[in-house]
Amino acid sequence: MDKALMQSAKDNLKNTHAVYSNFKVSAAIRLKDGTIINGVNVENASYGLSNCAERSALFAAYSQGYRKDDIVEMALTTEQDKIITPCGACRQVMSELIPANTPIVMADRNGKVQTVKNLELLPFAFTENDL
Ligand code: THU
Repeated sequence: MDKALMQSAKDNLKNTHAVYSNFKVSAAIRLKDGTIINGVNVENASYGLSNCAERSALFAAYSQGYRKDDIVEMALTTEQDKIITPCGACRQVMSELIPANTPIVMADRNGKVQTVKNLELLPFAFTENDL
């Protein structure tokens, strides 16, 4: 586990925009060149248009020109007592945009962590190969 990456995710919880749920989630992605990209949940009055932290971070990385093979780890954290795990929509996006064996490190507010490989989050994923 990349401790600096998780610390970055923690530090960036302050930038969450969880004005409706008050459920704050922060993600951080480590890239091969050492760069860290952060993402937070950004909510909207039209609730369904809210964006999760995981997708915010991934779309930010891709927006800066990084691609799947540049990603070496993703860290997730929250202010909750329970370890945060990605929602189904994020798992679908993560399965396509992050390498299968990349560690996804999920934490609770106290620093308890659970690490899985990206491919473990979405068995039987629908992929670009199914099109
Ligand atoms: N949320 C995330 O950002 N990531 C997750 O892994 C689970 C849920 C957000 C979406 C919404 O803003 C809030 O948490 C409550 O669902």
